[in-house]
Amino acid sequence: MSETDVDLEARLAEQDSFEPPESFVEQANVSDPEIYDEFENNWPECWEAAADLLEWTDDYDQVLDDSNPPFYQWFTDGELNASANCLDRHLEERADEAAIEWVGEPVDEDNRTYTYGELHREVNEFAAALRDLGVEEDDVVTLYMPMIPELPVAMLACARIGAPHSVVFAGFSADALATRMNAADSEYLVTCDGYYRRGDPLDHFDKATTGLDGVEHAVDTVVVERLPSEDAFPNTWPEQTRGYDELVENHAGETVEPVDRDAEDMLFLMYTSGTTGQPKGVKHTTGGYLSWAAWTSQAVLDIKPDDTYFCSADIGWITGHSYIVYGPLALGTTTMMYEGTPDYPDRNRLWEIIEEYEANQLYTAPTAIRAFMKWGEEYPDSHDLSSLRLLGTVGEPINPRAWKWYYKHIGDESCPVVDTWWQTETGGMMLTTLPGVGEMKPGSAGPPLPGLSADVVDMSGSPVGAGEAGYLVVNKPWPGMLRTLYNNDDRFINEYWREYSNVDSDDSADWVYFPEDGAKLDEDGYITVLGRVDDVLNVSGHRLGTMEIESAIVGVEGVAEAAVVGGDHDIKGEAVYTYVITEDGYEETEELREAIIEGVEDAIGPIARPEAVIFTPELPKTRSGKIMRRLLENIANAEDLGDTSTLRNPEVVEDIQRKVQSD
Ligand code: WTA
Repeated sequence: MSETDVDLEARLAEQDSFEPPESFVEQANVSDPEIYDEFENNWPECWEAAADLLEWTDDYDQVLDDSNPPFYQWFTDGELNASANCLDRHLEERADEAAIEWVGEPVDEDNRTYTYGELHREVNEFAAALRDLGVEEDDVVTLYMPMIPELPVAMLACARIGAPHSVVFAGFSADALATRMNAADSEYLVTCDGYYRRGDPLDHFDKATTGLDGVEHAVDTVVVERLPSEDAFPNTWPEQTRGYDELVENHAGETVEPVDRDAEDMLFLMYTSGTTGQPKGVKHTTGGYLSWAAWTSQAVLDIKPDDTYFCSADIGWITGHSYIVYGPLALGTTTMMYEGTPDYPDRNRLWEIIEEYEANQLYTAPTAIRAFMKWGEEYPDSHDLSSLRLLGTVGEPINPRAWKWYYKHIGDESCPVVDTWWQTETGGMMLTTLPGVGEMKPGSAGPPLPGLSADVVDMSGSPVGAGEAGYLVVNKPWPGMLRTLYNNDDRFINEYWREYSNVDSDDSADWVYFPEDGAKLDEDGYITVLGRVDDVLNVSGHRLGTMEIESAIVGVEGVAEAAVVGGDHDIKGEAVYTYVITEDGYEETEELREAIIEGVEDAIGPIARPEAVIFTPELPKTRSGKIMRRLLENIANAEDLGDTSTLRNPEVVEDIQRKVQSD
């Protein structure tokens, strides 16, 4: 431990709350604590504040229609277009200001600035091209691209013509792409030839075409050529494949009138992991989602048009959708995106970017902060980060030590830190302090945002009170909420509402949203989120379903049964631990272990790569035959095993424990 670390520990360790810095409050978008009462007393009309941040082509009639819960409708009969809101309306004042600053992998020095004028132009051209390919309003277009500018261009082009997009994270496997395209009946794919990762070109198109082999219907494909010819792969394009550049050139200078969309029309679909093996297609709408992304960007991230705002997430996840693309662009600011990783070419990458572009906000994940902390403060300390005004985190619980390190070494104790709890399903932030208003408590996300109502309850739905752990619930609808799971209203009700609602009631007050997280409330109403209570792991802030991983493993030849649990991990938060029973006649070999790891990577992607594969003759099961995951988790984390008396086969536990310890 270095000396500064010791000082920091001594000075900050005892401190468990922090006031927002005065210099920040003075200029904050929101600084009046009255906002909480005002919104509560004027609910749901308070959400006009969010709608007012957008430009509507037709005014809405009602803020909220809650007559058919949980199928809530917001800003009913209003019309707007998301691409017009993110582009056209800023042109008068900001045509020459940067909309996107893109920092490519430092391989070919390919950084690009898109002004609002340029972005508007390219979005129009690509929208014209998509139309020409046959894309019509409400057709789902799948976007399978890494962090290249053509991804937000394609998103906005889709929005312009009223075609919902479904972005599939580029790190996902071919199988994952196919599953999502089939589930969404998506007949269009925009992808790229390849991209750089740690200096090396990756063949992305090969993965995309393998995925397409698994799609049950015909697909028109567009390929962005990201790699310069010397690094390009010798792929031959199948029929119905077109080059992005050629398409855009063919439509040079064309404009496409933004389509008027109903507030409740789908803006996009995003697949996320749930309890069962089948990913959930979360449906977000044009009016509610966009207003939520814009309002939270303004109130929580304190974004102003003149800012240069940096969120280090990937657009393939919801954080990138809401807080790299839609929120910041709706507010007319400069949003940054970077390709690559924070430690290539070295551990200075992010700090160099912040220094060079004079970024005003940094929004990142606890897993990244823990890695920065481990690498040491000498990297950030050797850069001028004084442009930063606000720091944010999202994706998983942040431990107080990491929070304080972030506050001190990145924020120089002069930036508020917003710890924002939310989910793919919520569209945007839900629990967090308002940076210009609320006291910050490291480790605790904070109260619900104004106009929201959340609580911590026990299994029967009664509030647990301060200090007790229970389940997080959201008691009132909000504009950014998911509207349903695509083509599956039943699953929507079962997953999120059935637990704590009276599902036979038409009264909105009887409906309670359950995010499937555990939480704790303190005496000030601050909520500490403890993590998922369903079979979902949070690996480096990414949601992975244990069932998805298990079904990939049992698909490997030689595997009879598998159980997947989360094990503690210093950097990733959680890591994938798998317990595997081999089929009769198969040995517990290194080859099989490799095949299992490969099987998981093929089915999902490298993010789901198992940290440990533990062979075992049996899995601990209850008398009714359910796998005791809690026990497997305790074993993975070398914790006390607690009560094993309900097991049918208690002897197997010691056996597994011995194996894990010897691995
Ligand atoms: C977890 C990411 C604690 C939580 C935006 C949630 C958090 C899941 C926090 C959603 C936070 C997210 N503190 N836990 N600040 N933010 N989570 O859908 O378990 O990828 O349910 O959305 O991440 O993950 P998702």
